[in-house]
Amino acid sequence: MNDLQAIVPHLKSLHIAMLIIWCAGLFALPLMLARHDPAIGQADYTRIRRATHYAYAFVITPAAVIAIASGTGLIFLRGVFFTWLFAKLVFVAAMVGFHAWIGYVLVEVAERKGVHRVPRATLPLVLLTVPVTCVLMLVLAKPDLEEIPLPHWLHQPLGHQLPFDVPR
Ligand code: HEM
Repeated sequence: MNDLQAIVPHLKSLHIAMLIIWCAGLFALPLMLARHDPAIGQADYTRIRRATHYAYAFVITPAAVIAIASGTGLIFLRGVFFTWLFAKLVFVAAMVGFHAWIGYVLVEVAERKGVHRVPRATLPLVLLTVPVTCVLMLVLAKPDLEEIPLPHWLHQPLGHQLPFDVPR
């Protein structure tokens, strides 16, 4: 076993620890946002607003970045260039989109002047279970998916000239 292979278990542990925090945070944030209701009183509103902001900025976003960075490292260390991994990345992209949407709602609701309606948590949470479940199923079952179907001309160099001049 060479030195780099020895870090795989550690990197995988880091990956899993960070994605647990990330996923837990993605499920918790819509519930916390739904509590951004002035009717709960000034003191509670301030507390939930602060907790949501700090959790998003200092815990959940860094965990997402570390989960993605450690996962990227694992691709090369484990050499897993398989179709299930690319399918997994499509669903991870959906999770990143969800994360960005939460950030947008957070700024709109808690940091911009005016009256804002907070989205209810149910639909976002139901939608979030789809990519999270698909990612877990793909990475744990590692199904033997067929190759990604590409047109024949993308599989081999055709020896054509570029349609423009390249500076040398
Ligand atoms: C860009 C983001 C990500 C990348 C590049 C990535 C990549 C990887 C790679 C290469 C492995 C090692 C697979 C192996 O050893 O066979 C792995 C393991 C794992 N990943 Fe990710 N991952 C990402 C995000 C996620 C997310 C969001 C989840 C869960 C929701 C997740 C769940 C897991 C689990 C449970 C394992 C351990 C699987 C095992 O060892 O059998 N990953 N990931």
